[in-house]
Amino acid sequence: MKVLGIDIGGSSIKGAPVETGTGRLLAGRFKIETPLLLSPAEMADAAGMIATHFRWRGPVGIGFPGVIHGGTILTSANLDKKFIGCDAIKLFGKGTGRPVALTNDAAAAALAEMTFGAGRNFGGKVLLLTLGTGVGSVLFFRGALFPCELGHLQMDGRDAERRVASSVKRRKDLSWKEWGRRLSRYINILEGLFWPELIIIGGGVSAKHAKFFKYVKPRARMVPAEFLNEAGIVGAALWAEQERRA
Ligand code: BGC
Repeated sequence: MKVLGIDIGGSSIKGAPVETGTGRLLAGRFKIETPLLLSPAEMADAAGMIATHFRWRGPVGIGFPGVIHGGTILTSANLDKKFIGCDAIKLFGKGTGRPVALTNDAAAAALAEMTFGAGRNFGGKVLLLTLGTGVGSVLFFRGALFPCELGHLQMDGRDAERRVASSVKRRKDLSWKEWGRRLSRYINILEGLFWPELIIIGGGVSAKHAKFFKYVKPRARMVPAEFLNEAGIVGAALWAEQERRA
């Protein structure tokens, strides 16, 4: 099946058509930078621009950086608070003019990695973290994927994502070593709670894993996401396909 996958992030929205049988992008991704906070209507228009760019006539899957129940957005830590309570299926359905399925952005990334990427064929307990504007988190075990909000666990008296997201490294100009050590402490806390056997690190910064993995000392095996920054797009498309079959 061909699905347009769209990944909404804290600083951009990007999308590409995906072949869901292989996880391959059918065309180069189209990205719109969003340096200013977009309102829900503006974000829906941006999603519409992506659909128009690809002259898209098929279904659309969207990953959103917040808690999603059904088609409703319940939290929006790093985007406009007006998203909270939005019927996102309706909002983005109107924006794109296509049938839309919605899931959490990290859940989308995990779906891509567990199906075609770093976690394929792995039978044990997996923790996937996406490091970007915020920290996305998902647990996976025996085919079941559980979206979490571990970026909001308290660390040093504040939301952990305010300490370890890759946006914090940039904003505070932390060295790879300083940031890597913080991340190590955070991951050790999560390991004490969940005892994953495999940790997958996603988000844009995963492309630079060689620079910081050496400072992170997990108990589990830790690997970068294979889809790197495209996991969210691919996974959003896979999610839409699953929803259509359900
Ligand atoms: C949000 C999560 C999201 C993560 C990564 C957090 O601030 O609460 O829902 O998955 O950022 O975007």
